[in-house]
Amino acid sequence: MSWRDFWNGEHAIYVSPRHKALHYRQIATDLIGHIPSREAVVLDHGCGEALDAARVAAACGRLYLCEAAPSVREKLRSQFGRIDTIAVVAPEEVEALPENALDLVVANSLIQYLSRDELKALLVTWREKLKPGGALVLADVIPPDVSPLTDATQLLGFAWRGGFLTAALAGLVRTAFSDYRKLRAQYGLATYAAEDAMALVREAGFVEVRRDANFGHNPHRMTFKANKPD
Ligand SMILES: C[S@@+](CC[C@H](N)C(=O)[O-])C[C@H]1O[C@@H](n2cnc3c(N)ncnc32)[C@H](O)[C@@H]1O
Repeated sequence: MSWRDFWNGEHAIYVSPRHKALHYRQIATDLIGHIPSREAVVLDHGCGEALDAARVAAACGRLYLCEAAPSVREKLRSQFGRIDTIAVVAPEEVEALPENALDLVVANSLIQYLSRDELKALLVTWREKLKPGGALVLADVIPPDVSPLTDATQLLGFAWRGGFLTAALAGLVRTAFSDYRKLRAQYGLATYAAEDAMALVREAGFVEVRRDANFGHNPHRMTFKANKPD
């Protein structure tokens, strides 16, 4: 099994429906905060189930939801197919977009599942597809010194505040015996020191590369924002 198979199959990353709903609500709110105008064309790359995408779509002109896992794309299509400003796309379809088409690209909790070379290639694609002055936001990037224990503690804090603590405790036990833990041990997650991540973004031709507040509930992970030159 690879990460790709993992995301395409059934998994228990979210410990309960409430966890999943609160997670996607928060990510949508954070994403909306970066939308530059009501007409903006936005790409959410590696969007997952994007449960609150209708709210994101209402805040912009067009929303591309890009997902590598076919089973997740199917769920997205059945949930959002009737909203004509949302397009569910595979990564190859992002490659096929015209250049200078997007105002904002967001990738939350994605780059840890990519190799360094895959990330480098995607950064170039995103720069090509963004309009001059358009923005890239890479969120929930894992620094090298954050342990799975920190992730677990942050999840418990989120669960306490969100009223799903019991489910979170049970979920952590399940995760300890799950494919996720095995895959994390086998393939690891790509981690980046802040300077390293920012250098990669600069090397791909972005400017004004800076840190921003992280998306979601875990402030130990990092968000970077950058622009395509005008
Ligand atoms: C941890 S989930 C994050 C989902 C969502 N962005 C969020 O914040 O909840 C990672 C998602 O990225 C997708 N993914 C992995 N590699 C991808 C790629 N190269 N292109 C598009 N999606 C990808 C996976 O299928 C999975 O749904």
